[in-house]
Amino acid sequence: KTHVKIYSTGKYIPPHRVSNHDLTSWMDTSDEWIVKRTGIRSRYLSRGDNTSDLCVKAAHDVLEGSHIDADEIGLIIVATMSPDGQSPSVASKVQSAIQAGQAMAFDMNAACSGFVYALSTAEKILRHAPYSYALVLGGEVMSKEIDWTDRKTAVLFGDGAAGVLIGKTDESDQFISEDLHANGDKGEALTSGNRQVDNPLVQSDKSVSYLTMDGREIFNFVTRSIPDSIQKVIEAGGTDIEDIDYFLLHQANARIIEIVARKLKRPVETFPMNIQNYGNTSAASLPILLDELAKEKKVLNGKKQKIILSAFGGGLTWGTLLLEI
Ligand code: ACO
Repeated sequence: KTHVKIYSTGKYIPPHRVSNHDLTSWMDTSDEWIVKRTGIRSRYLSRGDNTSDLCVKAAHDVLEGSHIDADEIGLIIVATMSPDGQSPSVASKVQSAIQAGQAMAFDMNAACSGFVYALSTAEKILRHAPYSYALVLGGEVMSKEIDWTDRKTAVLFGDGAAGVLIGKTDESDQFISEDLHANGDKGEALTSGNRQVDNPLVQSDKSVSYLTMDGREIFNFVTRSIPDSIQKVIEAGGTDIEDIDYFLLHQANARIIEIVARKLKRPVETFPMNIQNYGNTSAASLPILLDELAKEKKVLNGKKQKIILSAFGGGLTWGTLLLEI
């Protein structure tokens, strides 16, 4: 059986930091409301770099930390719900920019769950592929998907990109178990980028819609589904919840993470958070967190830690992976 592991991580955050206070000059909101409801204190917004630009910079950071050349990569998947456009894909632009001449490349959209979906998919493809390495990125410019007059969503999101290089290994397998799902019945709880049919037979509104979110609906779905999903992968992985070193959850709301920690009866310190700095960066949120922890040597430090990656979002979609890294 082919074994797969994570070789390196990387990220790129656009440099322009926007504090909650900065937002108050654009809309009727307050630092107090945002911090109390979400834990967010700032986010970074792109001043022009599109999603592919952020992803290319993140890809260079991933490759810098690795031992391989770009032409050894056979697969590039970019998880995004804010691509530059429908075609070419962000992944194709990354493939060109980093000169990964041997790689197939495509984007994947599972909203905020995108990175977990993409990592799970890449790991499966790699096991049956003739090549040895896959680059998996999550990248978003959420700021262009948002209606900046809607304070209910505008204060929540941020821009960024990050990812991992995974590859075949003779060492033990790092991918232990997983649980991935979708519930399209609740799809209307988060919508973005809708476009109507418009052709010579029917004329309609040509505009593309901004992001809409039913925050309560998602909050309730997450606090119900995610603890279950985490428990399932732990059971399937033949381990105990006390043996999990870190629970890395999609950074959408600090309150959600605290509730999940309480429901699982685990100390909140085992749920690292960086939402205060970045806001919700959708598919980029988990790889940004993973890269920060890796650079601090808290994970991917050779200690064989058991790590949960769990994400949720539009679709609705959710997914949890148990890794031993
Ligand atoms: N500043 C000040 N006041 C505000 C703001 C703001 N930015 N936004 C809303 N309010 C007001 C509302 O108008 C409302 O006032 P009212 O009672 O007078 O009408 C009040 O604050 C409460 O608003 P709610 O929307 O009910 O606030 P809630 O407590 O539900 O918090 C939040 C909203 C933070 C969005 C929460 O529901 C949440 O985090 N949900 C989960 C979202 C999530 O996890 N999304 C992840 C998926 S994202 C993806 O896949 C891309």
